[in-house]
Amino acid sequence: MSKADFVLNIENLAVNYETEDGTVEAVNGIDISLKKGKTLGLVGETGAGKTTTALSILRLVPDPPGVIKSGKIELEGKNIFEYTEKDMELIRGNTVSMIFQDPMTSLNPVLTVGDQIAEVIKIHQNLSKNESYEKAKEMLELVGIPGDRAGEYPHQFSGGMKQRVIIAIALACNPKVLIADEPTTALDVTIQAQVLELMKQLRDKYDTSMILITHDLGVVAEICDEVSIMYAGSIVEHGTLEDIFDDYRHPYTKGLFDSLPKIQNRNEPLRPIPGLVPDPSNLPTGCPFHPRCVHAKEICKTKFPEVTHISDTHYVACLAFEKGSGVKIDRGADHE
Ligand SMILES: Nc1ncnc2c1ncn2[C@@H]1O[C@H](COP(=O)(O)OP(=O)(O)OP(=O)(O)O)[C@@H](O)[C@H]1O
Ligand SMILES: [Mg+2]
Repeated sequence: MSKADFVLNIENLAVNYETEDGTVEAVNGIDISLKKGKTLGLVGETGAGKTTTALSILRLVPDPPGVIKSGKIELEGKNIFEYTEKDMELIRGNTVSMIFQDPMTSLNPVLTVGDQIAEVIKIHQNLSKNESYEKAKEMLELVGIPGDRAGEYPHQFSGGMKQRVIIAIALACNPKVLIADEPTTALDVTIQAQVLELMKQLRDKYDTSMILITHDLGVVAEICDEVSIMYAGSIVEHGTLEDIFDDYRHPYTKGLFDSLPKIQNRNEPLRPIPGLVPDPSNLPTGCPFHPRCVHAKEICKTKFPEVTHISDTHYVACLAFEKGSGVKIDRGADHE
């Protein structure tokens, strides 16, 4: 695959937050490649650095305290760290749109939803006020809300409808990349399914590439083509949906699957991953997962795991897959 097949390439991105209490190592040298029209799931527990990664792509990491320590982010082949702030304003909403983690607060309560969608269209598409408003109505229809409700205010909509409005705003300028940060977490399960279905349809219709941030593997299974598993600021495993669901390798990925309720045996107790998410202002030495890993050996406390390729599409960062490390995983019981 050539570079032109990718709309977004992140190489070795590292982001710290310099706070009064010390340095928070939020993102520690990650690589992400996003293919045109594909959806990548970025999965991990709270504090893993998912939102920081997303904000970096829009260059919206708050500075201070945020500092980009290393790396480059190429959008359509150009490194965004070389852009001026003015260039970035054009990119935000046009090339890349983001649905923020706390979507219910992203709508302005004193403006009608039609005006809010129209505002984005007007800025980015150079249309008149009337034309923008008409287009806003079309966008509402597209997300399944009657266009004549454009004159209503956010409080007149249900949670699921508000989320559809937010999707309409994010898609109003037909972005090449849509980043959705926990877009359905605040919704109940049936509405969640509707919103995911809608995102899928829109992605296919417009050939949008998506990064979907979630800690819900069920959501990933619904919509993602590829999955990156993030732990303590690093991608510990990456692969296609099949690689990750049918052939996961990293003990942390296994832990995520084990902690899901089992449909076949609902009486079985849940098995949450033991221990706590590490404090990114005081990361463990060696493999950041070693304090919680049942397979950890002495070497895991000191050596940071390199990436090992399992196949062209699948890699893992765990010493058990590095030749001669002496670390072994008994996978006998892994894939029951
Ligand atoms: N503005 C900030 N100042 C200081 N630390 C921050 C800031 N924003 C995030 N962090 C810290 O950076 C780390 C990564 O945070 P981030 O929000 O990227 O994680 P996340 O994976 O999105 O988590 P969640 O699933 O809870 O949304 C966390 O330890 C967080 O406390
Ligand atoms: Mg987050």
